[in-house]
Amino acid sequence: MKTYKIAVIAGDGIGPEVTGSAVSVLKRAGEVEGFGLEFTECDAGGCAIDKYGIPLPESTLLTCKASDAVLLGAVGGPKWDSVEPSKRPERALLGLRSGLGLYSNLRPALMFKELSSASPLKNVDSIDLLIVRELTGGIYFGRHGRSDSSELLSDGSVKGLTAFDTEEYSTAEITRILKEGFRYAMGRNKKLTVVDKANVLETSRLWREIAESLKPSYPEVQVDYLYVDNCSMQLINRPSTFDVIVTSNMFGDILSDEAGMITGSIGMLPSASLGAPGTPGMYEPVHGSAPDIAGTGKANPLAAILSASMLLRWSLGETEASDRIEKAVRDTLADGFRTSDIKSSDEDKIVDTDGMTQEVIRRL
Ligand code: IPM
Ligand code: MG
Repeated sequence: MKTYKIAVIAGDGIGPEVTGSAVSVLKRAGEVEGFGLEFTECDAGGCAIDKYGIPLPESTLLTCKASDAVLLGAVGGPKWDSVEPSKRPERALLGLRSGLGLYSNLRPALMFKELSSASPLKNVDSIDLLIVRELTGGIYFGRHGRSDSSELLSDGSVKGLTAFDTEEYSTAEITRILKEGFRYAMGRNKKLTVVDKANVLETSRLWREIAESLKPSYPEVQVDYLYVDNCSMQLINRPSTFDVIVTSNMFGDILSDEAGMITGSIGMLPSASLGAPGTPGMYEPVHGSAPDIAGTGKANPLAAILSASMLLRWSLGETEASDRIEKAVRDTLADGFRTSDIKSSDEDKIVDTDGMTQEVIRRL
């Protein structure tokens, strides 16, 4: 029997609860489809700061590198708010992204039919788009710092402390993420929107040039360009017209929160971060560590469970198991089961984290 190695980083807040659910679902999916899974737990984020004084121990990165895929819960919480910036829990995420070379971040925003009344938008019948976010470049990883030497300006004033973060993208970085965008568009509805700020930024102009040069290789894909500010409007104005959006690290961070919110299913959205073929991908819910509800059983495990489904599809190639989980989630929703965050009517059957997990497992 084929056995896969999965590194599990439960992390902080509700992370351990929802990854626990995802692991149970993965185990059941393996039994049903006939493959084995070997899970190795490792620390990252706030819990690693508490144990080792750093957010991402080397051993965690090594375990991840030696695995077929990484399942992550969430990191961070108010407990570590005063930790110095270079050691904050979020650094663990950035370290994992760069350490594992996860340059391509897939953030699907899907409105579940059963949950459409939870969308803050009126009259939307469907949202099913995919944001492909560049994840290891741009302003997140560019030169940054502070120049504390004060400077005497020509008007006699003194320029004091300055801080800077730099947006830089190489042709190679842009090309590989745009190709991902085209590839996913080919697998979906063949519409690709390149989002940038080409009216202001030189990096954006290079993105557009490269997108234009790639177009002939994907003649079936309809490409359009949107400035990021306009895109943020159009996501609200005409969300159902989007298929695949490809964009930089920072713009993708912002737009994926917006896209997630308008689906009304923010507690339901999974994500995948992928690197070069054959290297382990990392899968995590889009929601955060929600420390306010940690330990109460209120957390919605579906985003983590759907992240596990993406893991099966994109890292293990276990497409049938992946489809089976997605169907079980849909069936569970169709049968009226809801965690309290997605309650929409009095007929809903309210369940806790564990209850929801068991309902999904029963339907596998
Ligand atoms: C995300 C988060 C992270 C990011 C933070 C926690 C570093 O907002 O994954 O979207 O900005 O990428
Ligand atoms: Mg974000």
